[in-house]
Amino acid sequence: MCGIVGYIGDKGASALLVEGLRRLEYRGYDSAGVAVMNGNGVEIRKAAGKISKLEAVLSAMPISGNVGIAHTRWATHGAPTECNAHPHVSMDGTVAVVHNGIIENFSPLRSKLQALGYKFVSETDTEVLAHLIQAAYEDSLEQAVMDALSQVEGTYGIAVISSRDPNKLIAARKGSPLLIGLGEGEYYVASDVSAILAHTRQVVYLDDGDIAVLDRNGYRILDNDAREMLRSVSKVDWDLGQIERGGYAHFMLKEIFEQPQTIENTMRGRLLDDTGTAKLGGLNLTDEELLRFDNIVLTACGTSWHSALIGGMMLEDLARIPTKVEYASEFRYRNPVVTDRTLCIVISQSGETADTLAAMREAKHRGARTMGIVNVVGSTIARESDGGSYIHAGPEIGVASTKAFSSQVTALLLFTLKLARLRALSPVRGREIVEALHALPAQVQNILDRADEIEALAEEFKRASNFLYLGRGYNFPTALEGALKLKEISYIHAEGYPAAEMKHGPIALIDEMMPVVFIAPHDSVFEKVVSNVQEVKARKGKVIAITSRPEPALEGLIDYEFRIPETLDLVTPILASVPLQLLAYFIAVKRGSNVDQPRNLAKSVTVE
Ligand code: AGP
Repeated sequence: MCGIVGYIGDKGASALLVEGLRRLEYRGYDSAGVAVMNGNGVEIRKAAGKISKLEAVLSAMPISGNVGIAHTRWATHGAPTECNAHPHVSMDGTVAVVHNGIIENFSPLRSKLQALGYKFVSETDTEVLAHLIQAAYEDSLEQAVMDALSQVEGTYGIAVISSRDPNKLIAARKGSPLLIGLGEGEYYVASDVSAILAHTRQVVYLDDGDIAVLDRNGYRILDNDAREMLRSVSKVDWDLGQIERGGYAHFMLKEIFEQPQTIENTMRGRLLDDTGTAKLGGLNLTDEELLRFDNIVLTACGTSWHSALIGGMMLEDLARIPTKVEYASEFRYRNPVVTDRTLCIVISQSGETADTLAAMREAKHRGARTMGIVNVVGSTIARESDGGSYIHAGPEIGVASTKAFSSQVTALLLFTLKLARLRALSPVRGREIVEALHALPAQVQNILDRADEIEALAEEFKRASNFLYLGRGYNFPTALEGALKLKEISYIHAEGYPAAEMKHGPIALIDEMMPVVFIAPHDSVFEKVVSNVQEVKARKGKVIAITSRPEPALEGLIDYEFRIPETLDLVTPILASVPLQLLAYFIAVKRGSNVDQPRNLAKSVTVE
């Protein structure tokens, strides 16, 4: 999610724009820039890195003017460099654009513009917009923007200024949030109200398809046919802290609730319904090269290792390729068997985890082909891997990983589907999986709508000293993930085990003080899980079951039940992990933990 700020009025735009960017910085960015009308034309300042870098550039080379736009970038296309930072400018230098979203058809648009002689200087999808507006410009900036946007597929929130219409600021929205701030003889544009709260609490939230035309005397909101639309003015009464978390008490809770959208973003443009497969740009592997691999190693740390375990099961199950899953910290020092027919899949939210980076370098050194499943675009692992797939989950601020996990598993299933359909998987089975993936965001939303049930459960167990999480098959890693979530934010000791492993020791721990969470959807191993529940109940353990349908076999055996929607076995970990994330969150809050920054932990472990 990028940050956008715009200003038109009589004050100095640069200072207001940078102040607004600072308000947006909490969401994690990698580059920033401003464009200001300086009386002769559009002037740009950009910098890779934090806002302070941009401030240094501006103090060295200030721009005076009182119409401007600004942007902090969360890279989706192209590394986080100064060149790729926004604003992007049209070839004739008269139009500047900042953009939040993804232009799915930017490649054909780029080729079309290049054929018309337009020269591109960045790797971004956004630059296409600047040239399209120039190409469409006749006598109205808003009309040129409408014409340009009519050619675009995907999502956008944009702000535009032009030296050909220097007293106007245009904003447009489709799929990415954007609002207008109303001042006295001055107006703002922002992707997030926190950017302008210091100046106004009167805002107009734009709807998808809206195009706003602002000047010093006021604003108009038009639809795609230039018809004027009426939008209500809202008064913002949140405080800044609340706003930065989108009204949620913690970033972790916000990120748990973002999952329907972030899973959608991970799949966006990648599912092929008719052929029952997936298309993944960026692998840098032809289908023939993909088929050459005779073994796969997945390596990662922490939560990413849990998603690797699930991905490994998927790959053997569907693609029928021998697969190993390795802790990165172990792999890097072992003497692993790796050949030039090994594909090493490296999973990392941050793309900076030292052990994972070292494991990838070791695999490369031994001749393996490496592929990154990464969230942070342009991160070290993303840049050093031979190719990969970004999960597009947006900045994950909470130290406990939630939306990145569900997007990692989704991305691994997309890759597995692609490889499996090249190998042995039938179109029918492939289409079944595509269908299950399409249903996923709504199913996650269904679970989130019942978060209060989990909060009540947390109230029951907030004082527990130990927890056991048990699952089988695809949900053994889910058990591990549920246990990690709880221990890392509530500091309660929790362990995850394969449910059958109980008999080999852990069952000695069971008594009436031990809550045991069973991940027990109605999958191929459900009956086996029932017998493990009976073993726990026989020893007076407290049983919490995550189920997917009414289960007569569990009657009288479980103390608490939370139901998740039915889906394919290999998709259940994504659904089952959501109540476990919420359980950990609510228990931690009730215990007064610092949920977003738990003790002893860092968001990215860049040391050994
Ligand atoms: C997960 O909740 C933890 N914060 C931690 O285990 C994390 O998954 C691990 O450090 C790996 O981080 P990465 O995905 O950024 O490589």
